[in-house]
Amino acid sequence: MMKETVLVSGGAGYIGTHTAVALIEAGYDVVIIDNFSNSEPAAVEGVEKIVGRKVCLEEVDTCDKEALRGVFERHQFNTVIHFAAYKAVGESMSEPLKYYQNNLVSYMNILEMMKEYGRPNVLFSSSATVYGDAEQLPVTEQTPRQPATSPYGNTKQIAEDILHDCCRAYEGMRGIALRYFNPIGAHQSALIGELPRGVPNNLVPFITQTAAGIRECLSVFGSDYDTPDGTCLRDYIDVNDLAKAHVAAVARMTSGKMEQRYEIFNVGTGNPVSVLDLITRFEKANGLKLNYKMVERRAGDVPAVWADTTLANEVLGWKAERDLDDTLRSSWEWEKRVRNIS
Ligand code: WQD
Repeated sequence: MMKETVLVSGGAGYIGTHTAVALIEAGYDVVIIDNFSNSEPAAVEGVEKIVGRKVCLEEVDTCDKEALRGVFERHQFNTVIHFAAYKAVGESMSEPLKYYQNNLVSYMNILEMMKEYGRPNVLFSSSATVYGDAEQLPVTEQTPRQPATSPYGNTKQIAEDILHDCCRAYEGMRGIALRYFNPIGAHQSALIGELPRGVPNNLVPFITQTAAGIRECLSVFGSDYDTPDGTCLRDYIDVNDLAKAHVAAVARMTSGKMEQRYEIFNVGTGNPVSVLDLITRFEKANGLKLNYKMVERRAGDVPAVWADTTLANEVLGWKAERDLDDTLRSSWEWEKRVRNIS
């Protein structure tokens, strides 16, 4: 049987590389598109080492519609997973146009090409950020979205709505939005992982860089929240588990089993973990101590958000499996490999 091919935009990025590996291991072919604006060609080489063969790479900016058209001309596929986007919440506050321009134009180009070339399936990377400060926890897919508090978050909401509209209007189009909670960890080979440029915004990269001595001290943003230990609660999902959720969603789209033409799934573990818990578990799992201090709350942080994953469990037949301590070990193994620490 011919292998199904999946186009993976942003396939050299953190979640894109892990998803490319999971797709190939599940028997799909992938075509990666990336312009390396926030990633390295070495990441694709990491994917190739893990799967033991070459991976098709198109160095194209998805904002360049004619270049993107070339990709559609050269490759036959029914499904796109669209990861390519900027993702720094803070930067999106100071440079909103950069975010609206890049994240929405690239996405519209992908959708237009899918429509024009009659390619049916669109899988979009959404985010738990769409729930904002939710009134009920854990959040289900029915929990109302809150008005976005950053241009980054707004692009996720707008993109969900665009996909919904397209799937309603264009009979041949089907869409799934996966709402990721907090993706962490790295591939167990330590050949791929998260490599933020500059000072990390996210907790786990800041932790591993502190452990590596690149950052002097980790700041815990807020210790007076109305939570068990006063620090924020999040749902930290292993990136390899997250990658498998994409494989399950692709399988659902290609099998023709979708009940509606547009569906949404939460992708998390269902377990809330506090910032302090995460720090302690990282220390224990890796046998080291972190230098950290409590500081003021960070603007825009919600006190708590975690997923109700029933829908993904039942409909996608997917659930998070990896143990948090193993995940935190994988984060440190990856950081050590990148920094040449033995
Ligand atoms: C987690 C917790 C911080 C850094 C954001 C986006 C989301 C998604 C992932 C990205 C919070 C605390 C953090 C630090 C800390 N998109 N923290 N010290 O804010 O839940 O989600 O990133 O592509 O859309 O909103 O993730 O990792 O930044 O923070 O205390 O140095 O860690 O306050 O409670 P967040 P995060």
